[in-house]
Amino acid sequence: MLISYIFLSVSLLNSLHDFHVSSCDHSCADKPVFTPSRLVVKYGDPTSANCSVCQHCQSSFGLEIPVGNKKENGHLISWKVDHLTEWSLSPMCYYNTAAGHQCCSSLKITVYNPPDNVVLNITGNSWVWSEGQNIPLECSVQNVAPVENLRVTFYRGQRQLGQKQSNKTGDKPVSETFHLDFTSTKEDNGGEFWCEAELLLGPDGPQPPPVVKSQNFSATVFYEPYLTGASHPSPTVLTEGNPLQLDCFAVGNPRPTYTWAVPSGVSPTKSSVLIINSTTTEDKGQYTCFVSNSQGNVTVKFDVEVKRDYTKHYIAAAIIGAAVVIFLVVIIYFKCYKK
Ligand SMILES: *[C@@H]1O[C@H](CO)[C@@H](O)[C@H](O)[C@H]1NC(C)=O
Ligand SMILES: *[C@@H]1O[C@H](CO)[C@@H](O)[C@H](O)[C@H]1NC(C)=O
Ligand SMILES: *[C@@H]1O[C@H](CO)[C@@H](O)[C@H](O)[C@H]1NC(C)=O
Ligand SMILES: *[C@@H]1O[C@H](CO)[C@@H](O)[C@H](O)[C@H]1NC(C)=O
Ligand SMILES: *[C@@H]1O[C@H](CO)[C@@H](O)[C@H](O)[C@H]1NC(C)=O
Ligand SMILES: *[C@@H]1O[C@H](CO)[C@@H](O)[C@H](O)[C@H]1NC(C)=O
Repeated sequence: MLISYIFLSVSLLNSLHDFHVSSCDHSCADKPVFTPSRLVVKYGDPTSANCSVCQHCQSSFGLEIPVGNKKENGHLISWKVDHLTEWSLSPMCYYNTAAGHQCCSSLKITVYNPPDNVVLNITGNSWVWSEGQNIPLECSVQNVAPVENLRVTFYRGQRQLGQKQSNKTGDKPVSETFHLDFTSTKEDNGGEFWCEAELLLGPDGPQPPPVVKSQNFSATVFYEPYLTGASHPSPTVLTEGNPLQLDCFAVGNPRPTYTWAVPSGVSPTKSSVLIINSTTTEDKGQYTCFVSNSQGNVTVKFDVEVKRDYTKHYIAAAIIGAAVVIFLVVIIYFKCYKK
């Protein structure tokens, strides 16, 4: 009977306090002071704080918090908990003035939980793309709190593709999937795709902020050939007897194949480089390199001019001329001598 009476009075006192605290003045001049003024605590971790109420206050004071241990030492109330396992806490420190006024401060506590897991996925589940395709990436973040402090970043290698934040609020852990659409390029071929979830808890939070990364996915992007070889002067002019080299090297995925059409017909060359060691005037005309793969093709045309080598004709003419002169000189000499 006595016990239940005490219990009743204690609960009555508590509800009275609750009532008083909720109608408490948060803007009084000499407010209780929390040290530290803000707590950022990982779920399940220990934490502590002190509240100091005004030095000259004679009346009652207290700290309202449903978990942990409180100790009073003069005008200081110490609070300590070994494992904080409450998501929504708003401790209130107060004192009553002689005039029956109540003066309060509340401690802001953020309880966080880094994601249990971060998973990167793709709608349709294929990591083999064509160039210019729209790629819908999904990053699923599991069991994270508080979700409004979460920032999700999508990456290809070390390059950021985009960042997302949640529109949800609430103290308790939630799971959320973030979407990012982008257009595939040939640079994405062979790239490692991943996402990471970061909890931005401010300067009172852990440094650096907690980060959880997803697994990596390697993408394959098919793209049509594009030319990388040096450009050639057109027309290419050379003198017969000199070598001719034409290059139509291209990059593509799958690796491109090369077919050459030359003035004398079809070349057996299957390489990006066509070489003729010693050209003749027969070799002049248009050369066509056809580069193709499953994604597309490009055609490169080269105009080649082969000039006749006149120096050798001049030498031959000079030799013949000299021979004729010698012959004539010999004939004239003999005619004169006989006379
Ligand atoms: C609270 O006060 C006690 C005694 O002055 C001190 O030992 C402790 O470090 C303080 N705690 C915090 C969180 O300031
Ligand atoms: C990835 O997405 C596919 C289809 O969109 C789905 O079937 C699969 O369950 C997802 N995987 C994960 C790990 O979420
Ligand atoms: C994923 O790829 C990134 C960038 O290429 C790399 O830094 C990271 O170590 C990779 N992670 C794993 C688990 O392979
Ligand atoms: C949050 O809201 C903005 C604007 O309403 C929207 O563009 C964005 O996609 C939303 N984010 C998520 C994760 O739903
Ligand atoms: C051109 O010369 C190279 C070496 O200089 C030789 O390997 C190649 O077979 C020659 N090509 C032709 C068509 O004669
Ligand atoms: C080359 O590409 C064009 C489109 O760019 C296509 O119409 C044509 O069929 C292709 N030719 C071959 C031989 O693949």
